[in-house]
Amino acid sequence: MFAAGFYIPAAIIRRMKTSEFSGFYKLGVSGRAREVAEFAGLSPEEEKALQSFSPLDAATADRMIENVVGCMPLPLGIAVNFRINGKDYLVPMAIEEPSVVAAASNSAKMARAKGGFTARAMPPLMIGQMQVIGLKDVEGAVRRVLAEKKRLLELANACDPVLVKFGGGARDVEARVIETNAGKMLIVHLIVDVRDAMGANAVNTMCESLAAPVEEITGGNVLLKILTNLANMRTVKASATFAKEALGGEDAVDRIVLAYQFAANDIFRATTHNKGIMNGVDAVVLATGNDWRAVEAGAHAFASITGRYKPLTIFWKNSDGDLEGVLEMPLAVGLVGGATKTHPVAKLAVKILGVKTAGELAEVIASVGLAQNLAAIRALATEGIQRGHMGLHARNIAIAAGATGELIDKVAARMVEERKVRADRAKEILDELVKR
Ligand code: MEV
Repeated sequence: MFAAGFYIPAAIIRRMKTSEFSGFYKLGVSGRAREVAEFAGLSPEEEKALQSFSPLDAATADRMIENVVGCMPLPLGIAVNFRINGKDYLVPMAIEEPSVVAAASNSAKMARAKGGFTARAMPPLMIGQMQVIGLKDVEGAVRRVLAEKKRLLELANACDPVLVKFGGGARDVEARVIETNAGKMLIVHLIVDVRDAMGANAVNTMCESLAAPVEEITGGNVLLKILTNLANMRTVKASATFAKEALGGEDAVDRIVLAYQFAANDIFRATTHNKGIMNGVDAVVLATGNDWRAVEAGAHAFASITGRYKPLTIFWKNSDGDLEGVLEMPLAVGLVGGATKTHPVAKLAVKILGVKTAGELAEVIASVGLAQNLAAIRALATEGIQRGHMGLHARNIAIAAGATGELIDKVAARMVEERKVRADRAKEILDELVKR
């Protein structure tokens, strides 16, 4: 299309980038890092930092938390093949569990055949809570708080002019009454558009600053003032169609739907089903330096918001016999503040993703969650997960038994073949191979 010597605009080059790889895993650590650097436009220093395996220096670590004595590194893998809203992504995932990165990549490849994932994040609205106690007339206090909404919003916004400048800020005030063993309480919700932040700091600061005015308006005492992790106004929806051919035929589609129905109607299964989703979600949340405990807490509360704990995904067979999957969950993640801006690997992960807003990051994470879930239930509903899992697990056992280099794969392959993936057997095989 472009004759030699023609200038190709950078935007077009970017559009031509593909996250589709086959055999990415065969490239070795530096080969993979090279591809990622090329895809994401990393500088030579960043490419080096990516592979340094201990990029967090003592001084930075010591500033992040208290009583630091060392670091606990996790492997950072790259999930390939993701196409989301028509854009290709390489997805960094920090996780200790084998199979997760490969499974996400595999599902993304299957989704790609039908156009990839479609994802939409709701506006970044977070909720702060103020607990008002000691009220004689709780219902009257509700009315007075709502009547003063405008003043409360103005006071809240006065504490964060930067957020307001970037188009965010306090948007609404709600008042609820809860019945407790200690009597009725008024719970005031402050709804804040936190833009590209996770939002805890902005919301908590606003709530603390509203405590005195709320006390003055209600005549009560404000006890807790804190953000809720049930970010049910900040949900993300990701969906994809998985072609029956890619899944292994219509029988595989039926089995996956039946597996989903199990989760939809049984809390024990739903918990594990959602754990499979969180394997993908947490790995990206962690890689980008976000608060995965907040995301976990919100996810499980949202899963039970109807009063019954449910799967965060839905699967069904469409009229063509293909599988449709949808995931919806809250995702309070940010690109500014916190470890996202201080941790060198988190900064690289954000650069590799190339996401420009917290909403775009959430859309990627939700797509990974859906991909991860599909991979797990497809494996469970067809060949079972142990076959794929054991191959990788066997490599870890081989390494623990002392295998290095090519001996790792040799020891692992023998154990899988013999269906004896155990430390003692790994040692025996290793001794045998070394003696030869
Ligand atoms: C293991 O980490 C996750 C799975 O148990 C998820 C599931 O059962 O759906 C395989």
